[in-house]
Amino acid sequence: MSLASTEPRPQRGDELELRIDSLAFGGEGVARLGDGGYVVFVAGAIPGDLVRAVVHKRKRSYAHARTVEILEPGPERIAPVADHPGVPWQVIPYERQLLVKSAQVEEALRRIGHLDGFELEEIVPAVQPWRYRNKLEYSFGNGPAGLVCGFHAPAGGNEVWPMSDCLLASELGNRAHELGARWCREQGLTAWERSRGRRPGSGERTEVLGPGPDGRPRLRNLVVREGRRTGKIQVRLVTTPGELEIGEFAAALAAGLGESLSGVLWTRSERLAETTAGGETELVWGEGELPERLGELDLRISPEAFFQTNTEMAELLYEVVVQYAALEGWERVYDLYSGIGTIALTLAPRAGELWGIELIEEAVADAIATARRNEIPGVQFFAGDTRLALGELVERAGRPDVLVVDPPRAGLSQKVVRRIIEASPKRIVYVSCNPTTLAPNAAQLVEAGWVLRKVRPVDMFPQTHHIESVALLERG
Ligand SMILES: C[S@@+](CC[C@H](N)C(=O)[O-])C[C@H]1O[C@@H](n2cnc3c(N)ncnc32)[C@H](O)[C@@H]1O
Repeated sequence: MSLASTEPRPQRGDELELRIDSLAFGGEGVARLGDGGYVVFVAGAIPGDLVRAVVHKRKRSYAHARTVEILEPGPERIAPVADHPGVPWQVIPYERQLLVKSAQVEEALRRIGHLDGFELEEIVPAVQPWRYRNKLEYSFGNGPAGLVCGFHAPAGGNEVWPMSDCLLASELGNRAHELGARWCREQGLTAWERSRGRRPGSGERTEVLGPGPDGRPRLRNLVVREGRRTGKIQVRLVTTPGELEIGEFAAALAAGLGESLSGVLWTRSERLAETTAGGETELVWGEGELPERLGELDLRISPEAFFQTNTEMAELLYEVVVQYAALEGWERVYDLYSGIGTIALTLAPRAGELWGIELIEEAVADAIATARRNEIPGVQFFAGDTRLALGELVERAGRPDVLVVDPPRAGLSQKVVRRIIEASPKRIVYVSCNPTTLAPNAAQLVEAGWVLRKVRPVDMFPQTHHIESVALLERG
């Protein structure tokens, strides 16, 4: 079915024939219906494609649909390399992916932020187009042929696709995944039911997750983390509460991975949300922290701490940060959202003093330990919410000369932007994983007197729509 402008808006479940004309932020193809006013975002489609797609979400002025069949491939579409839900842009030639990402950063800044006069520097391409992730979070599901351990199907739904060779992980990481999943299968364990506890129609969840009827836990996730520079692997099994011979799980991994295995952890969580965070984590075997190196830094990463998921590209990202910070050696520098302190500790040898703020206490402890282990003086880290801690830090340490921010996808809240304006740094280096939140934040800072000088995208996530970029703002 195709729609003319007078026809009603599509309903959930409708199948449409759509021609894709561009790519939206977030990676979906964009098609327009009828007179062009009604937009359909189409997962699994790229510009030029003519597709048959089924609507799964519908709003007044737009809908979301999932490609069911490609009727006519767009002129640039290439054959996929991997049967993998996490790499939807693999059908776009890599050079084109880079152009689209640069264009989306520019478009966000110009159209959302109404900014101009800045220099858009050439995107830093990925060192490795495949097998670049140092952390994979697999989900368990109950398939028709038994337990599966893979990824969620794209565009919603509870279905889990099995995955044996994930082309985003290294061969070593995949071996760890295979060994862990096989052990769970051999034990006859089952996955938690993701729809369980939802009140029909409301989507509201009512139950807390307990063990299965046999007293054993239900499986939630398998988290495989790899020290890319050390060749070490950490495996964390995430389950509901229950009793399990977890020592045997660790023994199976140790037998299969030998010296490469660094640690095995077990998290039991009753949370209904699809997350690997929270719950009770115990160390079952080996070390709790994963050893890794980044640039000159010798790191130990806690399971709860954020670490850039592409180690090789994080080094190049930080090179841009170093360049934009342009330190001469006397400056007071703040690193907000400092994670395990890797930006602060990379900048420290070039600065007078460095202060980091991070929410997760374990990450702060990692940062402090890394400063000590690497004998880096003049760096202090604090656990706290930037919203409150930034004002306190200014009172305690004095105003920063240079301020680095690296917030989560939602960007900086109004309150944090106000605190930054009050702190009045000469230079702001903004590391962003979302140009659509970078743009309004940069616009607010420009409004308050800073000048957006330049922006450089860095391709940390090839074959996906995710865009990392670094922006430099200077007080005018
Ligand atoms: C994108 S990561 C950046 C980490 C670090 N800069 C790096 O390069 O690895 C964002 C970090 O912000 C932290 N975070 C999230 N909300 C926060 C808040 N309100 N205050 C302080 N830190 C927060 C997260 O725990 C995470 O470590």
